[in-house]
This record gives sequence, C-alpha cells and structure tokens, in this order.
Amino acid sequence: MPDLSSFPRHSWLRALRQGLSSIESQSLGYTSPKGLPDARTAVSDYLRRTRGVLADPQRVVLCSGATQAIALLAHVLRNRSVAMEDPGFWLHRMVFRHHGIEPLPIPVDDDGLDVTALANTTASTVLTTPAHQSPTGIVLSPARRTALLEWARAGNLVIEDDYDAEYRYDRAPVGALHALAPDRVIYLGSVSKTLAPGLRLGWMVLPPDLVRPVVSAKSLADTGSSVMDQLAFAALLRSGDYDRHLRLMRRRYLARRNYLLHALREYLPDATVLGAAAGVHLTVRLPDDCDIEDIVRRAASRRVRIDPLSWCYTEPDCAPPGLILGYANLTESQIDTGVRAIAAAVGHSSQVVPDINGKVAPDSGP
Ligand SMILES: Cc1ncc(COP(=O)(O)O)c(C=O)c1O
Repeated sequence: MPDLSSFPRHSWLRALRQGLSSIESQSLGYTSPKGLPDARTAVSDYLRRTRGVLADPQRVVLCSGATQAIALLAHVLRNRSVAMEDPGFWLHRMVFRHHGIEPLPIPVDDDGLDVTALANTTASTVLTTPAHQSPTGIVLSPARRTALLEWARAGNLVIEDDYDAEYRYDRAPVGALHALAPDRVIYLGSVSKTLAPGLRLGWMVLPPDLVRPVVSAKSLADTGSSVMDQLAFAALLRSGDYDRHLRLMRRRYLARRNYLLHALREYLPDATVLGAAAGVHLTVRLPDDCDIEDIVRRAASRRVRIDPLSWCYTEPDCAPPGLILGYANLTESQIDTGVRAIAAAVGHSSQVVPDINGKVAPDSGP
C-alpha cells in the first residue's frame, strides 16, 4: 500500500479540472474501450521515459488495475498453458483459477524465476515480476533475463507485472523486459503503488496480435475505464506533478524502509530480510520453528496486520516461515509498534507492547 494520506489531492483536482475543461463533449460518451487516445499517449510517453518501454499508444489498453489486466488476459489466453512464479502474488493465482486456469508453479531462487524449470514445463505463457519479485523482492539476474527472453522468442509469451518499479532505493531500477522483446512480452503497470489502489487505474502494453482480442474482452467486461480518471491522470503526467509526487514518495519510503530495517535488527534479530532495496513491502524469513499462523493471529489481536509468506505459495503447507511487511503507509512510530508486536508474538519479547495506535495492552506472551 502506498502512503494514502499523501495522495496528491490538489494536483489531482487541478489535473481533473484541466482535463475536463479541454475535453470535447463527445469524449464523455462511450469511447474506445482501449482508453482515451490522449491518456494512452501520455502513458506511452511516461513508460518510454521511465522504463524504456516503446509502447505505441495503439498497443496500450487502459484498464482497472493490473488485476483486471490479468483477468482479461486469462480469458484471452485460456487455451494456453500458463505458469507463474511460486511464490507469487496470491490474488493473481486466484484470478487465473477463477477463469478456469491452474497456473503451473515455477520456483524462484536467489536469481529470481527459475527459467530452466519453466522451460521444462508445458507452459507457453508465464506471469512474472522481474524488477522486484512479488513477494520475495528478488531482482531477476542478468543471466535469467537473457534466458527468459530466449524462452519468449521461441514462441512463448511473458506477462511482465512491473507493479512497483518506480521504487528502487539503492540504484537505478533495471529496465523493463518489454523493451527487449516487445512482441513477446505483455507489459502491465498501474497507479496502485504510486497514487492509490482505489483509483483502479492500470495499463497493458500488448503485442500486436493480442490488441484486438484484449480490447474485445475489455469492451465486454465494462465498455472501458472511467474517462474522468483517464483525463486527470493524463494531465497529471503531462504537468510533471506525477514525477514530483514520485520523487517525494521515494524519499519518504526509503526513510520508512530504513526505519523498518532498524526496528527488525532491534526487535527481531533472527529475521532474514529478502530481496533488493525496492518497492513498498519487505519480506522476512523467520527461523524454521516459528509458528507463522500463531504469530499472525497474535499480531492481529494487537491490530497489526501481516500477511504470511505462505499465502503466496501454491502449497502453503510447504512454505518456509516468513512474513510480508508493508511499510509505505505507516509512520515510524506505527512501524516501531508493529515490529514490537510481531517480536512479542515470535517470543523475543514479553514486555508490555502498545497497539498500533499507541494504546498499551498487556502482553499475553506467545
Ligand atoms: C504483484 C502485484 N502486482 C500488481 C499489483 C497491483 O494490482 P492493481 O493494479 O490491480 O491494484 C499488486 C498490488 O498489491 C501486486 O502485489
């Protein structure tokens, strides 16, 4: 979750006013399900500039977040064998299942998606998060990128979910895979980590042969995404306010991430942090004897919500013990309180721990 209290309300209102004052009335009717040409061009310019994605606006489809993109693709690609990272985002696995597809699980190691394992399956499409693997945070290694592109060029399709590439704190982010094989890679992005998930605004950049079937599926799903939001987002991109917002958020999230790392070292020294310095979440491995379900339950009783890493595994019972910790939408004191509550649940601490709002609750101990 991004910092929802920092949503750029004034810039958004200004952008909406600007977009709405210049739009022709015709464009407020049923427009192309792909999205407004002006909004698709603005997204295309942004992706070229920031991710190296050469996206002809004709191949850009605006949609209701990455989730709808996956749903539309699941429908269009229903006759193909689909694979996804294991662990991978649980919601995407559920969306595929909802459309009658059981994604083949492909292991992830310290170099990211195991492309050799992928090539040994019958899959002809894979969903992957190469810039910052969800949930482990691992960046796909250069050798694996090359191997994955080779696999794609051999007649297969890669769905590249670039969900949080705006945030890389230690170096420039790796470029999008799409830039290297635009006809074999479907690129997905959204504003859910940059502005707010509640906007439900995302995009796909498609190989030419998929544009027509995906637009047809989008048309039948909802006849197109909200014109108002497209107008505002296009104007926000053009004004430079989106970039300014991201610069501000990067600094803030880096500080929050560092604070979380500090709190983990202090209260949970046995936790191992996975992945690169990037994104808006951090995944930690805990010692093998930790009872994750119990920890999650005890933390929840203090109003600290954490997702167990096991949710992201095809076989949750075989998952290593770990937790996914979001930090971008928390103040430093909430981070501190949250980690102390987790530590108490893990059994490293048995002191009196305040809940997320600073209220003190007696620690019942793990
Ligand atoms: C891996 C991954 N991809 C994409 C998204 C964004 O989905 P949407 O754009 O539908 O909000 C998320 C949100 O948590 C995510 O974790």
